Amino acid sequence: MGLKDKILSRLAAAEGETISGQSLAEEFSVSRNAVWKAVQSLKQDGYEIDSATNRGYALIKSGGKLSAPIIASLLERDIPIHIFDSIDSTNSEARRRIAAGESCCLVLAEEQTGGRGRRGKSFYSPHGMGLYMSLAISANFNFENAVGMTAFAAVSAVKAIKKLTGTDCGIKWVNDLYIGSKKICGILTEAVTDLESGTVAALVVGLGINLRSTELPEELESIVGFLDHAHIKNELAAEICNELMKYNGEDSSYMSDYRELSIVIGKHVAYAKNGESVSGKAVDIDSQGGLVVLRDDGIAETLRSGEISLTEIEGVK
Ligand code: BTN
Repeated sequence: MGLKDKILSRLAAAEGETISGQSLAEEFSVSRNAVWKAVQSLKQDGYEIDSATNRGYALIKSGGKLSAPIIASLLERDIPIHIFDSIDSTNSEARRRIAAGESCCLVLAEEQTGGRGRRGKSFYSPHGMGLYMSLAISANFNFENAVGMTAFAAVSAVKAIKKLTGTDCGIKWVNDLYIGSKKICGILTEAVTDLESGTVAALVVGLGINLRSTELPEELESIVGFLDHAHIKNELAAEICNELMKYNGEDSSYMSDYRELSIVIGKHVAYAKNGESVSGKAVDIDSQGGLVVLRDDGIAETLRSGEISLTEIEGVK
């Protein structure tokens, strides 16, 4: 780590407290002038550092750029962090790293050229607009225990967004985050299976959160929303990652939060089944995350996967 990264990481860990130039110089065995120069260079990179009081330096905002030292200083566990300016997909990169023998890692990018969504869809990921992150965890989960990660990730993201921005989001089954009628986050959870033991050898959880508004392709204009908090990218990544690493597959207490945050329960929904259009009222979400629907034709059924549209909230498809 170079001096700039060391200072950045130290200031981030101090969470806004002022640290004197002298103590930074002593800690890293450099002159106070070298510290001053490194801080000027960090400011030019977009980090907001307060040095007005002459007492020292304090990191006000981490800026809109991904930074491994800042994220590392906020993580509760020491895991490899890989940051790319541009990549095909952070989920794909995390999978490649698991295949190459890494056991746990966090992959982030400023842009994805082939961002992937659920059900083979693409995920629009232009440069600097959002937080695109994937956490890969090697663990031997059985399939039943692994499936809960999707709901757990949705609850973790809602809580992290609320904590860092004060903004309330709702969860649209299965795992999209909405503000009003606009989707601000999508989640793609993928399992790497071990064919010999028939278990899940690793889980890759990818989240795409739209942080800053940008010009959108016409077909996304009415669907996609933004948090409008681009400067908290590193803090948000670390907060979500810390939560995700607590997943153990056994404790399902997060399901009560998932139900409370659902924008679907009690609403009229529509979906396709065997090529037919079906509609009904969403009445509950069961302990495995299935959506219980009382259909208009009187039949009750539980959806395990798929896509629903909310007919009562205009624009939520
Ligand atoms: C969806 O809305 O269908 C899920 C979108 C998931 C997007 C995230 S962005 C980071 C990670 N990398 C990907 O290629 N996809 C996920």
